[in-house]
Amino acid sequence: MKQVFVKTYGCQMNVYDSARMTDALAEAGYAPTGNAGDADLILLNTCHIREKAAEKLYSDLGRLAPLKARKPGLKVAVAGCIAQAEGAEILRRAKGVDLVVGPQSYHRLPALVAEAERGARPVATEFPAESKFDRLPRIRQAGISAYLSVQEGCDKFCTFCVVPYTRGAEFSRPEAAVLEEARLLADNGAREITLLGQNVNAYHGGPGGLAGLIREIAKIPPIRRIRYTTSHPLDVNSDLIRVHGDEAKLMPFLHLPVQSGADSILAAMNRRHTVAEYHRILGRLRAARPDIAFSSDFIVGFPGETDADFAATLALARDAGFAQAYSFKYSPRPGTPAAGEDQVPDAVKTARLAELQAALEESQRRFNQGFAGRVVNVLFDRAGRHAGQLAGRSPWLQPVHAAAPERLLGSEVAVAVAAVHANSLAGEVAA
Ligand code: SAH
Ligand code: SF4
Ligand code: F3S
Repeated sequence: MKQVFVKTYGCQMNVYDSARMTDALAEAGYAPTGNAGDADLILLNTCHIREKAAEKLYSDLGRLAPLKARKPGLKVAVAGCIAQAEGAEILRRAKGVDLVVGPQSYHRLPALVAEAERGARPVATEFPAESKFDRLPRIRQAGISAYLSVQEGCDKFCTFCVVPYTRGAEFSRPEAAVLEEARLLADNGAREITLLGQNVNAYHGGPGGLAGLIREIAKIPPIRRIRYTTSHPLDVNSDLIRVHGDEAKLMPFLHLPVQSGADSILAAMNRRHTVAEYHRILGRLRAARPDIAFSSDFIVGFPGETDADFAATLALARDAGFAQAYSFKYSPRPGTPAAGEDQVPDAVKTARLAELQAALEESQRRFNQGFAGRVVNVLFDRAGRHAGQLAGRSPWLQPVHAAAPERLLGSEVAVAVAAVHANSLAGEVAA
């Protein structure tokens, strides 16, 4: 049997897509390997969100050259958002690439690999009318904590973002298909499902939207926990807030990117909400589910961001009580509106990022510190770093380690928190 080595960059949706491509290739006779040196096919599932992410692909491709020289039959495939954005340009820039496949064409991957084996260098970056989801093979395996893509693409067109161009128009999978896949994941061992979409709370594949879908998935007995990501503040509606209040399987944690704490910058980003509206959404969710915690994304150095705008972002980062957050320097992306604006100097971006990250780390530290001495439910989903340990997540997505027998893998267990580290908790199984 031939072997495929898959490397995944970028977001959770790429992780999900890589698993589905691995399934599709298995049907075509490729077994997965963790060692690039053994592979007959190397598949790089790429990300285009920031310039650094894109540069990584080309440096990795450079490093593959000696492998290809040693093994002339080795094929290299580029998938994901760079494949979609750059298409045939990748073949010109990187001679070692044999095929390029965009996110909406993954069901065609086995046929494209066969073409590449015959010596062609195919490029598939169209947005075909048929849904790849109907054509990809059924799920073959699931982790205890599994991803399930329910929505793809985006119509929001934030002025900094490539996703509407790389993933295309917003699309929701029909609820029946999602539920079938959720049951299949449960049958294969999943106990937690994270529903994925670039804009997952815009999901409209069934009558009740995302809230209705969550209620249906909650009826699948083996599924203990439900999460969803990533959400846009504009699409947080009353139904979704209500389901946070009354569906026990929905975890009290929400990733809700805000990007900036300044109204003028939010407007320039085309986010279409104000800082006050963002605070109001957090308040309504807290009223429905008092123990809910939030994480967020921030961009510093967006074109036009003044010292006062940045001070407003810092204030938001300090006041909102985020349990966790990601922050990035603005990276101009080709073809997006903000890339053509006057840019903030890199030294200013660097200084602002450091200051923001310090504030966000402090917020996270404060949040985690609040767990010292408490008992939290942990879904053990993997072996811990040391022998005799298991690791998992709290409802608030904190990694938790504890001494525990292997038979507790896949179970939700009460753990008494004995130590709070910067990014994780450690404790003892309570009963
Ligand atoms: N759909 C999500 C975000 C997807 S991209 C949302 O609407 O929020 C993940 C994060 O990358 C974004 O939240 C943003 O903070 C960051 N990001 C996107 N484009 C960027 C750019 N050009 N430069 C820097 N960060 C960017
Ligand atoms: Fe990008 Fe998210 Fe904005 Fe869509 S909503 S354009 S994915 S940042
Ligand atoms: Fe990157 Fe594409 Fe995800 S650009 S963040 S891999 S949607």
